[in-house]
Amino acid sequence: MRTPSEQIEQDPRKKTLVILGTGWGSVSLLKKIDTENYNVIVVSPRNYFLFTPLLPSCTTGTIEHRSIMEPIRNILRHKGAQVKYYEAECTKIDYARKVVVINDESEIKGATSATEVPFDMLVVGVGAENATFGIPGVREHGLFLKEVGDAQAIRKRIMDCVETASFKDQSDEERKRLLHMVVVGGGPTGVEFAGELQDFFAQDLKTWIPDIADHFHVTLVEALPNVLPMFSKQLIDYTESTFKEESITIQTKTMVKNVTDKYIEAESTGPDGKKKLEQIPYGLLVWATGNALRPVVKDLMSQIPAQKDSRRGLAVNEYLVVKGCENVWAIGDCAIANYAPTAQVASQEGAFLARLFNSLAKTQEINEKLAELSETQAVAKPEERTEIFNEIKDLQKRLRRVKQIGPFEYSHQGSLAYIGSEKAVADVSWLRGNFASGGTWTYLFWKSAYLSMCFSTRNRILVCVDWIKSSIFGRDVSRE
Ligand code: FAD
Ligand code: NAI
Repeated sequence: MRTPSEQIEQDPRKKTLVILGTGWGSVSLLKKIDTENYNVIVVSPRNYFLFTPLLPSCTTGTIEHRSIMEPIRNILRHKGAQVKYYEAECTKIDYARKVVVINDESEIKGATSATEVPFDMLVVGVGAENATFGIPGVREHGLFLKEVGDAQAIRKRIMDCVETASFKDQSDEERKRLLHMVVVGGGPTGVEFAGELQDFFAQDLKTWIPDIADHFHVTLVEALPNVLPMFSKQLIDYTESTFKEESITIQTKTMVKNVTDKYIEAESTGPDGKKKLEQIPYGLLVWATGNALRPVVKDLMSQIPAQKDSRRGLAVNEYLVVKGCENVWAIGDCAIANYAPTAQVASQEGAFLARLFNSLAKTQEINEKLAELSETQAVAKPEERTEIFNEIKDLQKRLRRVKQIGPFEYSHQGSLAYIGSEKAVADVSWLRGNFASGGTWTYLFWKSAYLSMCFSTRNRILVCVDWIKSSIFGRDVSRE
């Protein structure tokens, strides 16, 4: 595995396929595509794939972030033909000129840090950014949970709050504020993070730093009447009752309107329907209110008249072609194909495109061979004609088989979420039915399911070691 075989070099006669992003969608495409058919170029500011389902566990040190990262270089060097990778952000897709403008946004820049990459085919898999709905103060004071850097910042901030709360002569009121951990957004990101944070407190912080035990508190704020809207009613109730047992407060029907450095302002609706504005002081604020469009996607949409009514992402057809475009596809969180923005959808879309591109290349290859054979047949001697005729028939049969790629169909395997205290909830599709469960067995299922889905054996081993390490020695409470 350390020394894969020599790769075929790129060939200027082949079409150039540019893939933007190294997330769930793009990596799933890269894994399955036959790179010998195209000159593949990958552009992404992140030179690794991130296994996001275990990212909430990195915020508390249950899992170390490197255990869920897979270097993109490792993925690419195992492909049959050479794939070029540029660590850069695509800042503009110029559809008319068929080029992408790329910028090196890293700390070290060479003499050239911005350039253009021409494409024949383009796959947009840039994901989404964090939604803030323009609420003042969110970007300045809140922390997000999307990337490795976010998880690291949260981990640092938790320990900073804990140590500052333990500072000599700290007032009770200030201690209480610093130890109030507020999570905004009751979708799966917010719920999983709240569960992980409460575990950190209950299993480690409380015993390591007993001084904070009376004041540490986690509150989850959600605008809708309940958390986890995509799960069944029974699992929503189970999550809410588990949070109650764990002493996590859930404040539903509460819409955050403003954020300052020390408190949030939220409008809550009481049982009588009356609205009241309240100030909620916090030490840590994690903002998990879903996805918003990236600027590069917004800009592409503005170039295509057929996208003018699309608001949440690039509208695509059933073959994931961006509507109004030719040879441009979109997958994952930046595409709107009527499915939820999940890893499951993105990876199935990526795998579909790989099949489609492999079959397009095969079709082209067979058509070229057929054209060649037809020409040979025309000038061939009569005794050679039958052989050529049979060969043509075989190729036509192969062509019919290859062409049978239907439109993209998503197969939902179910939803899983960790809710803390070694419990999880699962809505799983099972033999054409639905199976809902919550509790410790579901947690074991959650663990084994995510372990098996990790990108590589190396990732699986590292995650297992992290789980064992944190359960034996406790999580590391040092602030980096
Ligand atoms: P991403 O995986 O976000 O990848 C986008 C890629 O594009 C990244 O490599 C990024 O660096 C790159 N990029 C960004 N901007 C540019 C640019 N301008 N130019 C080039 N490249 C760019 N889903 C599930 O199904 N199950 C789960 O358990 C689950 N857990 C989650 C937990 C967390 C904490 C989070 C945040 C999400 C979770 N999701 C889960 C959702 C899932 O991660 C996303 O739906 C999935 O990552 C979408 O894949 P994607 O390829 O569209 O985007
Ligand atoms: P989300 O969109 O699922 O949930 C965001 C929540 O924030 C919503 O319930 C919304 O009502 C609330 N909200 C919005 N503005 C608010 C405000 N001002 N004040 C209070 N609440 C507000 O977002 P999330 O959790 O980040 O998930 C994004 C996507 O990733 C989803 O498709 C989700 O399914 C997927 N995901 C899946 C996971 C899993 O399957 N375990 C884990 C994490 C994410």
